[in-house]
Amino acid sequence: MQRTVLWVIICIFGCLSLACAQEENTSAEDLYARYCRGCHSSAITCLELGQDRTYWSTTLKRMFKKDNTPIDAEDLQILTDFLTSADPGAKPVCN
Ligand code: HEC
Repeated sequence: MQRTVLWVIICIFGCLSLACAQEENTSAEDLYARYCRGCHSSAITCLELGQDRTYWSTTLKRMFKKDNTPIDAEDLQILTDFLTSADPGAKPVCN
């Protein structure tokens, strides 16, 4: 009986940490890998690092319009911040 309770507790914590891990999956790098590596080489994006927020905001909207990819506002914001603040030559955009 006690053993069962222990297992239940272990499972709950296991699931919680898994949920947390999935939450972390929406880091800027992951969003970049998910949305920006499908159509063209990352080198194209690498060339533009150092551009301002207006550039990235406009460019990202254009990219997402190309194949009508849905992205929620929060993720778009994370991606825009990430590309605006990335230094020229920064990984993982520039390999
Ligand atoms: C549906 C395909 C597609 C996806 C997905 C895509 N791109 Fe593009 N991207 C293109 C094409 C095609 C071009 C060539 C120029 C054009 O047609 O606008 C391009 C050009 C670019 C350029 C070159 C500069 C410019 O102004 O044209 C940059 C930077 C860029 N993409 C960044 C990104 C980023 C960052 C992402 C992730 C959000 C992304 N792309 C996702 C298709 C895509």
